[in-house]
Amino acid sequence: MAVVDYDYLAKVIESLTHGETDEVALMATLACELHHSDDRFDWTGFYRVVEPNLLKIGPYQGGHGCLVIPFDKGVCGAAAKTQTTQLVDDVEAFSGHIACSSTTKSEIVLPVFDKNKKLIGVLDIDSNQSAAFNKNDQHALEAILKSVFEA
Ligand code: SME
Repeated sequence: MAVVDYDYLAKVIESLTHGETDEVALMATLACELHHSDDRFDWTGFYRVVEPNLLKIGPYQGGHGCLVIPFDKGVCGAAAKTQTTQLVDDVEAFSGHIACSSTTKSEIVLPVFDKNKKLIGVLDIDSNQSAAFNKNDQHALEAILKSVFEA
């Protein structure tokens, strides 16, 4: 049973990404390390801001991910539009949720900023378990994203 140790994971990610500035390379590395760190994480990936109010899929791990998400759609769109973390215990109860997979029950989506505080995308983690994510996940993931993309 894999349960994430965020302190250890942050050190692994720092050692793997130290000195790298390419956003796709960083996203691919984080998607891989995060996805394999915890059994709750059934889909782990990034959506990138490709033009104003439009997200397009980036590096991810897991089953199929929808390719394009406008800011006014889904949990990813809400995270991008409000630039705030969306912690969703029950995706069925989230109006406008986009079901890329029929097995997803809960989700956490975090905005990703570059060193100029510009929104470059969102990190989306889906779980087949209900209410899988908590405030500890939110704070730890926000800290990892800040250390990697805003450094
Ligand atoms: N469920 C997301 C869409 C992306 S899939 O989960 C990979 C949403 O509602 O925005």
